[in-house]
Parts: sequence; C-alpha cells; structure tokens
Amino acid sequence: MKGIILAGGKGTRLYPMTKVVSKQLLPLYDKPMIYYPLSILLLAGIHEVLVISTPDDTPLYEQLLGDGTRIGISISYKVQDTPRGLADAFILGADFIGDDSVCLILGDNIFYGHSMTTVLRHSMRDLDGATVFGYPVKKPKAFGVVEFDENYNVLSIEEKPEKPKSNFAVPGLYFYDNRVVGIAKNVKPSERGEIEITSINNAYLEMGKLKVSLLGRGTAWLDTGTPQGMLKAAEYVEAIQSRQGYYVSCIEEIAWRRGFISAEQLLTLGKELETTDYGKYIISLAEEALSK
Ligand code: DAU
Repeated sequence: MKGIILAGGKGTRLYPMTKVVSKQLLPLYDKPMIYYPLSILLLAGIHEVLVISTPDDTPLYEQLLGDGTRIGISISYKVQDTPRGLADAFILGADFIGDDSVCLILGDNIFYGHSMTTVLRHSMRDLDGATVFGYPVKKPKAFGVVEFDENYNVLSIEEKPEKPKSNFAVPGLYFYDNRVVGIAKNVKPSERGEIEITSINNAYLEMGKLKVSLLGRGTAWLDTGTPQGMLKAAEYVEAIQSRQGYYVSCIEEIAWRRGFISAEQLLTLGKELETTDYGKYIISLAEEALSK
C-alpha cells in the first residue's frame, strides 16, 4: 500500500500565521506538524510516501524530509498548483499509486491513541473498496459526517451538512483500493468549487464498498483548525511526553520500531540532534537497544 500526505492549501483560516509558510510546516509543540501524519503512515507500515503541497512549500518539505532514506523509506513530492480539493490527491498521485491501494492522510490531522496501530492494521488487511473512520465530535457540521446502522453499514456521508445525521465526523484518514484513481478523475466539483473527498466516498457507498470503522474514546483526533486548537493540541503532546517519557510521533523511533532502520542508524540520527531533548530521546532509545 502507498501513502499520500496532502499538505497544501492556502491556510487562510490561520492567517497571519500561515501567510508565508504552509500550515503543516508549523510546529506542533516540538516538531513540525507533518511529522504527526507521517508517523501514522509509518505505524501502518507504509514505506512509500508521496507529499503533495503548493509550489512555494514543496521545496521546504523536500528540505525537511528529503527522499526518506534517512528513516529507511521512500518519500517523493508532487506540486498542487491550486487547492482544487482533496480528491485531487489521487489525480496528482495516479502515477505514484500505480496498481496499488492507497492511504490518504491530511497533513493537518493528528491522531494519537493506544489502539491506533491495531485500527490501521485491520483497515489495511480487510480493505475491499474504501474504509473511512468515524469519530464522535460535539460540532459535526464542520466536517464530513457519516451516518451508519447498528451493524456499521454506512447509510450516508455528507460534507459539512447543515443538519448532521449523526455526531460522527470523518477524520482526514482514508483507505482506498485502486479504483480510487478512476473515481477521482470523474468527480464533479461541488458548490464550493472543490473536488470533494466526500464525493469519492459516496461513489464507493453507491457500489456498496464503503466501510466505516470507529475510532474509540481512547483515541485522540486533535483539531488544528484554529490557533486555539493548535495550542491545545501542543499542550496535549507536551502533557503525554512529559508524563510518560515517550515521544508522540517521533518518526525516527517509529521507523526503527517498524524495522525500517537499525539501532546504529537510529543512533546516528539522534546524534545529529543531540543538543535537543528530541535528539537525546532518540539516542537513549538507540543506546538501550545496542546495549542488549
Ligand atoms: O479534517 C477532516 C476534514 O477534512 C473532513 O471531515 C472533511 O470531510 C474534509 O473535506 C476536510 O475538510 P476541511 O474543511 O478540513 O478541508 P480543508 O479544505 O481545510 O483541507 C484539509 C487540508 O488539506 C488542509 O490542511 C489543506 C489541505 N488541502 C486542501 C485542499 C482543498 C490541500 O492540500 N489541497 C487542497 O486542494
């Protein structure tokens, strides 16, 4: 399975913070925001990743993440000239996806929770069509909203409905089989002029191939849509890290735990950052592994 991180957009809702730099490059506590979605793809065991961003920001992502070899994966890049909509990811990513299935994650979506790896594994293993997730929120209006019956059969999926049919928002994490490329090419723009991910999901729903999997209460899906949301998300990460001593979304650690790099390589990466707590954390993991 391939992985796509969509990290473009104008970020106008966060101006002036995002006037000259992409939202997903901004720090979320101690690391760039894109580390969080990248870590989800790594946790899922995906090691071929495409990052899509704006003409101005794509070179910055390349500087930050390189070709991925440092963490034992492959990262390539594609420019999106204008924010045509989330479904554009599959048109721009068609060559990259090839004959494979694909996981799309939005670059500003942050997930954390103990069942995350299990949920990801299940979604990948049982994929036949499309899998989206449902997450209970107080104000579903701001999101894609999924309605389902007691057997988790999807009844409807709507983009930012005036009258939501459930309180389950659809987070920006989606799994699709290869048909998504053909479907995306035929999606018509919505009233707001975007080719919507919800239209893709509706196409799968019509084929009877859309599944919803619920993210439980033990999983955090953090909002980064407002400055207050970003601050709260940062505080959440800080609280977990300082209490547990484990880092949230340390891409080097996950790459090592997934077997993409060795403990020796992990040590080298840590030493490059040794003046920071982040680097010291990586070094301590590597040294512990090497001492065994
Ligand atoms: O966060 C989950 C929600 O994401 C879903 O519940 C909605 O169904 C889905 O449409 C999307 O809603 P948003 O209103 O949050 O989408 P937004 O336009 O803000 O775009 C999400 C991210 O994707 C944002 O960081 C910018 C980036 N983006 C967006 C568009 C439209 C791109 O990189 N390219 C694009 O063309």
